[in-house]
Amino acid sequence: MARRKKIYEGKAKILYEGPEPGTIVQYFKDDATAFNAEKKAVIEGKGVLNNRLSEFFMTGLSQIGVPNHFVRRLNMREQLVRSVEIVPLEIIVRNYAAGTMSQRLGLEEGTQLPRPIVEYCYKDDSLGDPLVTEEHIAAFGWASQQEMDDILSIALRVNDFLSGVMLAVGIRLVDFKIEVGRVFDGEFPRLIVADEISPDSCRLWDIETGQKLDKDVFRRDLGSLTDAYTEVARRLGVMPKSSTPVSKPTLIN
Ligand code: C5P
Repeated sequence: MARRKKIYEGKAKILYEGPEPGTIVQYFKDDATAFNAEKKAVIEGKGVLNNRLSEFFMTGLSQIGVPNHFVRRLNMREQLVRSVEIVPLEIIVRNYAAGTMSQRLGLEEGTQLPRPIVEYCYKDDSLGDPLVTEEHIAAFGWASQQEMDDILSIALRVNDFLSGVMLAVGIRLVDFKIEVGRVFDGEFPRLIVADEISPDSCRLWDIETGQKLDKDVFRRDLGSLTDAYTEVARRLGVMPKSSTPVSKPTLIN
């Protein structure tokens, strides 16, 4: 069988050429990395869970009219997505202080922010994805002013959607990261949400107990990452098929 052409291999995903022009197959690996890949592990089942969870969030976003790259899930680890010209920014939305914001500003983790705060990091692993301002983005031409307006509006819509979905299952959306890319439907480019939305790219805390249900479990050695992601999937009603109990065969008389 002919091998598919690999386009790109990242820390947690592999991208292959898709079956039709303008499509890509996104394969979710079990690899987990943190601190710009200084810490690495293979976490069995993570790829399957993130494939399902990203499908769930992207489908929900489509239903409320937030355009994104998801086309359809192909199997346990792969989904078909639209090919985009990625904007080299990580767009972070924060509702509560945590992580690098807490470190930078000396805020206790969990402090509620006066309003959602959007930050931008320049996507470059060799530089450790540094925080940048809109001045850098404009001066270096990473996105136009119109695109920055669109990015802000998309980021806040995703925040409202995800916060609501999580709140409904007793989870606080502390912060998250998205990426966006350009698609060319006609002459003009349009931005859509790309990459993935999963507990790898969000901070999710149980509202009652404060228990972390996201990649911080791995970053900070807080227990089983698979258990945490499975709990998120269970609450959202998104369970991989393999984990549904299979009844034993019974004799038919
Ligand atoms: O590390 P920091 O506090 O800046 O992360 C903010 C949010 O962005 C977290 O939810 C984290 O998981 C996510 N993030 C990410 N990929 C990165 C950096 C941050 O998904 N490269």
